[in-house]
Amino acid sequence: MIIRAERPADRPDILALLGQAFPGTAEVKLVRELYASRDYLPALSLLAESERGEVLGYVISTRAWIGAEPSLGLGPLAVLPGYQGQGIGSSLMHASIAAAAGMGERSIVLLGSADFYPRFGFVPADSLGIISPDPSWGSHFMALTLGGSDGVQHGSFRYADPFNHL
Ligand SMILES: CC(C)(COP(=O)(O)OP(=O)(O)OC[C@H]1O[C@@H](n2cnc3c(N)ncnc32)[C@H](O)[C@@H]1OP(=O)(O)O)[C@@H](O)C(=O)NCCC(=O)NCCS
Repeated sequence: MIIRAERPADRPDILALLGQAFPGTAEVKLVRELYASRDYLPALSLLAESERGEVLGYVISTRAWIGAEPSLGLGPLAVLPGYQGQGIGSSLMHASIAAAAGMGERSIVLLGSADFYPRFGFVPADSLGIISPDPSWGSHFMALTLGGSDGVQHGSFRYADPFNHL
């Protein structure tokens, strides 16, 4: 398996994967809209590909904001059912964090499982002074600071626009 940046030709396979990993939810529409958004960042749209060229997993981060400062919103992350639990999701997370850090990004924020994401260093965003768009998200709204204490940002978090159409 390799992890690489997505190319437009990969998108039908990616959208099919998202439809299988998140049946009956809005993730396919969200990612389609993210591709058309000014907040799309090609270097942070990553897929895991098998030796036979199948798309087994996918993660995307898009431009977001903490107050007036740039941040990243991570998600969706998905692995093809049948290939879950083999480390693909973790590999995608490590690759995504490393790519963001290499680009000089200061933080990554996400909404997700409080059992899964702390293993990559994510903590409840409110513990860093990052204010959630929806207080009901509670400890599922998490953040990772990149670049040590220089990276600490405070204020209200805002996702890329397509997240507001969910
Ligand atoms: C969540 C997901 C991306 C993880 O990818 P993966 O390749 O299965 O994960 P890995 O093999 O790297 O890691 C497995 C670990 O993640 C945990 N895990 C898997 N899915 C999880 C979930 N939905 N919530 C919490 N933990 C989860 C497993 O229990 C396992 O934990 P362990 O290492 O302590 O045993 C994948 O299972 C998936 O696509 N699920 C459906 C879509 C989804 O729910 N995405 C959003 C996640 S918040």
